[in-house]
Amino acid sequence: MNLMKSEPDHRLMIKTFQEDFMPHEKLLMIPGPTNLNPNVLQSLSKPLLSHTDPQFYELLDQIQNGIRYLFQTNNPYTFAITGSATIAMETAICNLLLPGQTLLSLVHGYWGNRVATMGSRLGYNTNIIQNNKFGENFTLIQIENALRKYRPSVMYVCHGDSSLGCVQNLNGIGKLCHRYNCLLIVDAVVSLCTTQLEMDNMEIDVLFSGCQKALSGPPGISLISFSDKAVQIIKSRSNMCPISSFYMDINLVAKAWGLDNNNVHTYHYTPAINLLYGIHAAIREIINEDLSKVIERHQKAKHHLEKQIQNIGLKLLIQESENRLAGITSVLIPDDIDGNMLIQFMYTKHDILIGGSLLASDPNVPKFWRIGYLGVNADRKKINQTIESLQEALQQQRNKFKAHL
Ligand SMILES: Cc1ncc(COP(=O)(O)O)c(C=O)c1O
Repeated sequence: MNLMKSEPDHRLMIKTFQEDFMPHEKLLMIPGPTNLNPNVLQSLSKPLLSHTDPQFYELLDQIQNGIRYLFQTNNPYTFAITGSATIAMETAICNLLLPGQTLLSLVHGYWGNRVATMGSRLGYNTNIIQNNKFGENFTLIQIENALRKYRPSVMYVCHGDSSLGCVQNLNGIGKLCHRYNCLLIVDAVVSLCTTQLEMDNMEIDVLFSGCQKALSGPPGISLISFSDKAVQIIKSRSNMCPISSFYMDINLVAKAWGLDNNNVHTYHYTPAINLLYGIHAAIREIINEDLSKVIERHQKAKHHLEKQIQNIGLKLLIQESENRLAGITSVLIPDDIDGNMLIQFMYTKHDILIGGSLLASDPNVPKFWRIGYLGVNADRKKINQTIESLQEALQQQRNKFKAHL
């Protein structure tokens, strides 16, 4: 595009931008983002406050307390940071690890590998351990062997792995890591509000999550909290070995949130103010329903969906029920079905979107769909609607096949 010849380009732009962008409404039964809670949607269009307004500081305080409630923690260093959950993941790693230290990542599926890639790129010694069977839990013995072998400073585990739809039991892992002088990072992007999770009781050092999953909030903002042990490391390194990222430096984030500074808020970057309204509204919705009831709703939805899937003759990827995550369920694609065509059919005919696999390019991984029912979509009626559409899509392909015989 030659901007010097602005006249024709300008006319074209006027034509292109003549109308507001109006997305079609779809039922997002995917691993995220999920549909927004209508009250959250409304909150996003509230008038903008300056990030230096005392009323804005009040908002930050309320959000901090709300995240502490969701995470079940008393940690002072608890924030909502600008960026999707990947930025929280990277923030956790680059604040805790010093150059030359070792990161250990437990790999269930896609996310453990992503963390390992991130760790290597950031220049840390990075090791992984991997389970052979899909969705299998790591045992405390396996973890202890890895801690002995690699002597990591930090270990990452994904509580709810959305790439497979499995959940890792966290009991005892924090205590074990601390016995080996290792800090524990837990990824709760999908498990928050879908599965029991208690940051302080589970001795987790950094816990992070995203807004666009079971909170039914907007993407682009994430939640993160640091234990006292983690904060000690972050503070002690601030002068001798500052973290390599300016944007993600938690010492600066804390100052912007009025911590360690006599409640003075220091400019770090312009926060995503409207997204903060969104996360505030999303947390309020959870508080109104009660966190334990939200978790129960997701667990019930899981059992209902699994039963319906099996009733229509389909099979689940993860064998053991206790290893299956609530909020996302992986369903094997039958050999006679084209998985992508089926997704397309449901999307165009019924406005329902289900997810494909993040591991589709791996020839050792069977083909499966991922059905998400997060936040407002953890609902019996929406699940039944999805199953009906799925059943019709299967029938349509099988009828077509018969017609060709
Ligand atoms: C378990 C898990 N961790 C991390 C992420 C990354 O989140 P985001 O896409 O918001 O950066 C996702 C996203 O789906 C996820 O499911």
